[in-house]
Amino acid sequence: MTEADQQIRGQFPILKDRNVVYLDNAATSQKPPCVIEAAAEYYKMNNANPMRGLYELSIDATNAYEDARKTVADFIHASRPEEIVFTRNATESLNLVAYSYGMHFLHEGDEIIVSIAEHHSNMLPWRQVAAATGAHVTYLYCKQDGELTPSMLEEIISDKTKIVAITQISNVFGRLNDIKGFAAVAHAHGAIMVADGAQSVPHIPVNVQDLDVDFMSFSGHKMFAPMGIGALYGRYELLDQMPPFLYGGEMIEYVTLDGATYAEVPHKFEAGTVNVGGAVGMAEAIRFMMRFGWERIEKRENDLTVYAMEKVLKIPHVHVLGSDDPMNHHGIITFMIDGVHPHDVAAIFDAHNIAIRAGHHCAQPLHKYLGKLSTSRASLAFYNNEDDIDAFVECLSGLRGAMGYTD
Ligand SMILES: Cc1ncc(COP(=O)(O)O)c(C=O)c1O
Repeated sequence: MTEADQQIRGQFPILKDRNVVYLDNAATSQKPPCVIEAAAEYYKMNNANPMRGLYELSIDATNAYEDARKTVADFIHASRPEEIVFTRNATESLNLVAYSYGMHFLHEGDEIIVSIAEHHSNMLPWRQVAAATGAHVTYLYCKQDGELTPSMLEEIISDKTKIVAITQISNVFGRLNDIKGFAAVAHAHGAIMVADGAQSVPHIPVNVQDLDVDFMSFSGHKMFAPMGIGALYGRYELLDQMPPFLYGGEMIEYVTLDGATYAEVPHKFEAGTVNVGGAVGMAEAIRFMMRFGWERIEKRENDLTVYAMEKVLKIPHVHVLGSDDPMNHHGIITFMIDGVHPHDVAAIFDAHNIAIRAGHHCAQPLHKYLGKLSTSRASLAFYNNEDDIDAFVECLSGLRGAMGYTD
């Protein structure tokens, strides 16, 4: 570990003070003090209800919120800040597209294609909308190692397909999908492309214009920001045509007893009092990441993934889901151990102060397709280090022994 890596680690006192080897970053990341302080500072010094008050404090709150929107827009290269709608998380972002775009533009007989490897958040909203509109959901099956390609989409797409919804990085395999290629196929058939960026935006540089996606969802809490703030990127022309998602205060222009007109994009999608502290924290999290820079973040995460995979693949009775190539994992290692239930695996890791995830990772249809009920998952962030991996590998190597196996 270099001095620079130690410097990153030093930004996360929880890792030292709670004596935890934290390997559940795909579920949520830890927060550096600068993010916590930025949100706290907003509440200490600038708090007022934004957009509503005609006094300085409220205007400051509005400015803090809109500045944060600009930071998020620049981060993913949206063409204008209005293309960022703040939500609570990726789940809400996907529901927003499904309910607002889907309910409005889908008709009986239309088709929505989602991959079998989706998180429930990018599957269930589409099923709800399909049930309500008479559209149907078709699943795009990945290979057993998680591979999904635009040509596989090409084989099943038709001119009835109106929406293609696929994750950029799978939260089970860690594999990076060719979203630009999927978007090209979707657009060639007149469908829109919805990409779930919950696992990609925190780990790789994302350029929504280059990917040519119509919508992208992501959560702040997986990228060092507070919980309760997330974002939906939407192409402006589409957001503009969509009806609101939630109705009430702040999202209107004018209300009469029998009608209403709605605010401009993005405010028509942000009903009620918004989460300014969260947005400020998210913007600071982005500045925090960019102080290190993508090159360093990606290199560190890749190096750690290679270091971990090389060791894990050598442990007898341990089976990693997906490809054996560390470059197909992006810090996510999901595995099974012969004869040991994933919940026992997680409990034994916990006894060693190592936090990993066990279960279906909100991807039950994928697990069923792979013939598994549940799995265990370790997931990295750029503040992890080789000592974390060594502790993980040591525990993993002794796990069957701890369960009484002698081979
Ligand atoms: C790929 C993917 N999509 C969506 C989500 C939902 O994120 P959130 O719970 O923050 O809404 C997750 C969370 O784990 C995820 O991994």
